[in-house]
Amino acid sequence: MIEISDIRKAYRVGDIETLALDGVSFRIEKGDFVAIMGQSGSGKSTLMHIIGCLDSPTSGRYFLGGHDVSRMTDDELSDVRRDQIGFVFQAFNLLPRATAIRNVSLPLIYANVLPEERDRRAGEALLAAGLPEDRWHHHSNELSGGQKQRVAIARALVNSPAIVLADEPTGNLDSKTGEVVLETFRHLNCDLGHTILLITHERYVAEHADRIITLKDGRIVSDEEVRSKHPCPVERQTP
Ligand SMILES: Nc1ncnc2c1ncn2[C@@H]1O[C@H](COP(=O)(O)OP(=O)(O)O)[C@@H](O)[C@H]1O
Ligand SMILES: [Mg+2]
Repeated sequence: MIEISDIRKAYRVGDIETLALDGVSFRIEKGDFVAIMGQSGSGKSTLMHIIGCLDSPTSGRYFLGGHDVSRMTDDELSDVRRDQIGFVFQAFNLLPRATAIRNVSLPLIYANVLPEERDRRAGEALLAAGLPEDRWHHHSNELSGGQKQRVAIARALVNSPAIVLADEPTGNLDSKTGEVVLETFRHLNCDLGHTILLITHERYVAEHADRIITLKDGRIVSDEEVRSKHPCPVERQTP
């Protein structure tokens, strides 16, 4: 599904060059639930931006679903972002004055989906993300932090992306709410077969995944299968 090899990313500010990623390689298969862990400044967000086609590497190769992303034009990259990637951010990034269901169906407008179909798919995504139906027509600024993140997760799912990228999705939530959101990712992975890449600086968050890749100073220092705190209960379903 995802294969990156020897990815480097250098930022230059004035005379100073920072190597944010320094030769990163790994594969992620369809249906995997992987965490990228590392301290602040280790290169996690840079990696997420590259995998999410928001930025391109200075060097190295990136294949997504067999396509060579490193050779795509800006237009092709924006199509990949729209059709293949679901983003979840720490700060939710919802439109505050739009309803939950409107926030979720918005990406489908850009994908030219008809209105009725948009609402149907947004409802399906909200159900998958676990937002109670009596909240669907609330403005997103009327929802709690945990509910906002469920809307953001539903928005990430609505295009049936190949992969969901979540950058510190529990960073703005109290630990109990964070736990519920992490269990939501687990449900999406186990029960609906979604491929999930969870980015975090905290070990206990990473331990919800089945594999933890640890970054330090832009390099992978470990890549381990772990016994997840919440493993899939039964044999995984294929989507
Ligand atoms: N746009 C940028 N311009 C210059 N340096 C950057 C930029 N983005 C990130 N960096 C630097 O790259 C390194 C990795 O940053 P980042 O990927 O944001 O790490 P993390 O998400 O793990 O905290 C840091 O040293 C950071 O200061
Ligand atoms: Mg970051």
